[in-house]
Amino acid sequence: MTKAQETVLVFGDVLDFIGDPNKLGEQAHRYFSPGALLIKNGKVLEAGDKNDIQNKHASLLTDSKVEIKDFTGQLILPGLIDTHIHFPQTEMIGAYGEQLLTWLEKHAFPAEQQFHDSEYATGIANIFIDELLRNGTTTALVFGTVHPQSVDAFFTEAQKRNLRMIAGKVMMDRNCPETLSDTAESGYQESKALIEKWHGVDRLSYAVTPRFAPTSTKAQLDNCGKLLKQYPDVYLHTHLSENKDECKWVQSLFEENQDYLSVYEDAGLVKKRAVFAHGIYLSDREYKSLADNQAAISHCPTSNLFIGSGLFNLKACEEHDVTVSMGTDVGGGTSFSLFQTFNEAYKIQQLQDNSLSAFKGLYLSTLAGAKALDLEGTIGNFQPGCEADFIVLDNSPTPFLTFRLKQCKDLEEKLFTLMMLGDDRCISETFVMGKSIYKK
Ligand code: GUN
Ligand code: ZN
Repeated sequence: MTKAQETVLVFGDVLDFIGDPNKLGEQAHRYFSPGALLIKNGKVLEAGDKNDIQNKHASLLTDSKVEIKDFTGQLILPGLIDTHIHFPQTEMIGAYGEQLLTWLEKHAFPAEQQFHDSEYATGIANIFIDELLRNGTTTALVFGTVHPQSVDAFFTEAQKRNLRMIAGKVMMDRNCPETLSDTAESGYQESKALIEKWHGVDRLSYAVTPRFAPTSTKAQLDNCGKLLKQYPDVYLHTHLSENKDECKWVQSLFEENQDYLSVYEDAGLVKKRAVFAHGIYLSDREYKSLADNQAAISHCPTSNLFIGSGLFNLKACEEHDVTVSMGTDVGGGTSFSLFQTFNEAYKIQQLQDNSLSAFKGLYLSTLAGAKALDLEGTIGNFQPGCEADFIVLDNSPTPFLTFRLKQCKDLEEKLFTLMMLGDDRCISETFVMGKSIYKK
């Protein structure tokens, strides 16, 4: 293929974020309607008004090698970013009736035991990735299981589709079924081998993934810290302060520690590129430490409601300047859709007298995800040089939504309606590095 053949010109209503709407107000988003995206070799060259781009690059319009994609009247957004999800829990999403610690025993651990089988892991990885793309999610931070082959399976399938994905093998050396247990040493060696094999290969990155403090010994957490020192640009991905019984358990297991986060701090895990799922029960000291150390919280509202964990305090995070992004937490979460995830986030904030705007919701699912993953400038918006992962929305997803969307007076109302009532049915097409990879 020649270079010219890799130029793509996309027409549509282009929307992205360059900052947090709570900080920048109207300046936080850019909306070009009618707009255009000019893509070269999989990366954004320019996003802007259709007329400006057409005038500036007139020769492209008549160049037969330039691919023109016309989505006039349809919204074009950056690919959505899910900063906390478990691919091995795909098969048991929506399991009935438990709170975190019994839910793990009854539903999560039995599902994860099957991933010793590479073929099985590959099958689930494919179902999982297809579901992400159908929901417009182009990047995710993903838990595997304790088995290294679960991560091999996931990365192999993600690599085939040229996706930007981050994943890691679970490390867990106590308080779990024997078949899901590694040791401080084997967990370290297996993670190291996976880092050497996958980190930085194509668009893949590795995350050191201790499940949570109760299932790792101090020796194992210290080995996680050792890996982060040896490989400074790998990620750290774990759970934090999700459930009251879990927090009490951490207190009893780590009696010397002043709070939950300090267990991770002591092992050197609280840093840039560290993403902590949930963070519901945190002290001022913990918020401050997360902010000072540039670590992020992944807010997982459908999970927090479904397994009855509690109400996330977004305002406290904002007051302390903690980076927050969105996670579906499938299978504790109940939807792969970041629209449905925002729907529940909105309600959680309503219960705390905080009205989340549609712009804030979309920011949390795009640019904030990129910030949490330290990938701003690479994904999350359409700034020049960003990888061209984007989605095209459907204006007529269902008869009723078509009717409801027609009542919307402006962009903000349309976005809010889409995120309250919409889901995978609203994703018309998903593009990765400028190429269509899913079409409804
Ligand atoms: N805490 C430890 N493991 C898990 C898990 O698999 N899901 C959720 N939601 N929380 C956890
Ligand atoms: Zn989780």
